[in-house]
Amino acid sequence: MRLILLGPPGAGKGTQAKMLKEKFNIPQISTGDILRKAVSNGTELGEKAEAYMGDGGLVPDEVVVDLIKEKIKEDECARGFILDGFPRTIVQAQKLGETLEAMKLKIDAVIDIEVDPEELIVRLTGRRSCSDCGAMFHDETRPPEQAGVCDHCGHKLFQRTDDNKETILKRLAVYENETAPLKDYYRKQGNLKTLVGRGSVDEIFSQVLALVT
Ligand code: AP5
Repeated sequence: MRLILLGPPGAGKGTQAKMLKEKFNIPQISTGDILRKAVSNGTELGEKAEAYMGDGGLVPDEVVVDLIKEKIKEDECARGFILDGFPRTIVQAQKLGETLEAMKLKIDAVIDIEVDPEELIVRLTGRRSCSDCGAMFHDETRPPEQAGVCDHCGHKLFQRTDDNKETILKRLAVYENETAPLKDYYRKQGNLKTLVGRGSVDEIFSQVLALVT
């Protein structure tokens, strides 16, 4: 199964992608996670990406496209994958389409998760992530048992540097300008499936499953 999760920052793409990964035993490919790791490891990729990410803008297409092209050719993606945060521009979508066509593969579904901006701001300003296993928490709606500590693996929780209100507003504007046009792009291809991302994480997951199985 080859899926794309589409939606604004904070819509729940990462949360749902992790659940899909467990359910179907296929990898979650999060360009955001890959880029953040590169930044924290100080790699060449990280150096290219850091300024764009800190500012809430998009990393240049050629950087992420090359990264994804390599990734989807890896053995672990042979049975499928979940793209979380890619593509984010029409150019990225076109390049992905060309790469898959050359591999004689297709995307099965593009799941578009819609959430209103007020809710997104609340979710992102309160988000805390585990520095080790990537589990996600929220200060108010999903607090860990012990403040600042992951319930699953005991490692420290951190707040993303782009999860402050000013950068969130910039990310939302970038989403509207650059990424939202992908909805029409995939609608025309016949594989866009939209759901409203309000409700519990498990309720949303049931809706996602109903759309892909
Ligand atoms: P990226 O890491 O992809 O960030 P994003 O798209 O802004 O999305 P988020 O990870 O913030 O949100 P999400 O939808 O995954 O929500 P989550 O599940 O975490 O990208 C970061 C940056 O990297 C970009 O700004 C850009 O610079 C660069 N980049 C990445 N990909 C790129 C690309 N392709 N091209 C160019 N640049 C790229 O949930 C959010 C919170 O809500 C959590 O606290 C969670 O617990 C909570 N939550 C989830 N579901 C629910 C629910 N149903 N109800 C209540 N709370 C919920």
